[in-house]
Formats: sequence, C-alpha cells, structure tokens
Amino acid sequence: MSLLLNRSEFGNPANKGNLLSREAAMQLFHEWVLNPKLQVHMLQVAHLMKSWASDKENLDSQGQWMWEMSGLLHDADWDQWPDLHCIKIIEHLESLQIDPDVMHAIASHGPNHFGVDPINKMDKMLFAFDELSGLIHAYSLMRPNGYEGMDIKGVKKRLKEKSFAANVSREEIQDAANRADILLDDLITFIIIHQPAVITK
Ligand SMILES: [Fe+2]
Ligand SMILES: [Fe+2]
Repeated sequence: MSLLLNRSEFGNPANKGNLLSREAAMQLFHEWVLNPKLQVHMLQVAHLMKSWASDKENLDSQGQWMWEMSGLLHDADWDQWPDLHCIKIIEHLESLQIDPDVMHAIASHGPNHFGVDPINKMDKMLFAFDELSGLIHAYSLMRPNGYEGMDIKGVKKRLKEKSFAANVSREEIQDAANRADILLDDLITFIIIHQPAVITK
C-alpha cells in the first residue's frame, strides 16, 4: 500500500493565516479519531508543538496555535481511513481554506511514507516529535512512576533495544533530529519535560 501523495503543493497561498478555531479543530479531532491511544498520541504531539513554538520560536498565540493545530490533526485520518492517511485530512483542510503551511506540515510528517520533505521549522519539528514522542510515552508506561525521574540515559537505552517499541523506526528518529538540526539528547530532554503535561488517564 502506497501512501505517496505525489504532490508538493498544498492549499492556496491566499489562505495564509486561516486556521480553524480551537473548538472546530477539537470537534474534527473527536469525530475522526475514535481510538483513545491515537488521541493521546495526537494530543501529546500537539502539546509538544505548541511548547516548542512558544519556548523556542517565541511565536505569538496565533503562531503557537498553528503549530499546535498541525500536531493535533496530523494523524486525524489514520484511525478510520488508514489507506487514505494524509490524503483525507489534507483535502479536508484544503476544502476549509486553511493556511497551506498546516497542510504542508501534515504532508511531511513522514517523508519516507508520503514522499514530501519537511521544509520549514514547523514541518521539521512535527517530524522530529512524532515517533520519538510515542517511544518515550511507551517507555513511561512501563516505568512504575511514569515520567517521574525519567532521564536521557533510560530513553537512549530503549532506543538501542530493538525489541522495545519495535515498530518505531530508529533511523527515522535520527533522520528527523538531523533534519531539524537538533541533538537527539536535546529533543529527548524537551519531550521528557513537556510531555507529562498531557494527562493520559
Ligand atoms: Fe502519521
Ligand atoms: Fe503521529
């Protein structure tokens, strides 16, 4: 099954700055994503994106929401329409005349799957957080105290252990960090600090 998008242009540049309201985005999220585990993943990535946009990029609230919304919706079609992953959500957001940057970020969250390279910082951070956030969350679930006391060393051990979260591509995680030009250690630290804010129980 190929998920290649076979295009690199998304949306209409005239729609720059158009975002969904938080209410509309959350409604779409709840209508499309029924799997609670996937919901957690998307909320975590959304929170990491928002945190990075505010703490590292110093973006205003509109900019932060654009990053957060891209994270929140990046897997919106994965639950019910896996064969149309990325295609369906991008076409939907295009029909709502959303800012092209949002669709581009979603389209490039898996360059090896969708054939679209991350270009700007928002694209690159979405790619960088996606898989690593999931692996770190899986690690938290097997620790007696969850995220409490988690450190880089423990995460790196899990990264080296191929049987742990075996479906998570280590090459992709390193590739994403390289493309974002961020040390893997710094990325791990950021996730350990920010991810626990998303309540998962
Ligand atoms: Fe995905
Ligand atoms: Fe994802």
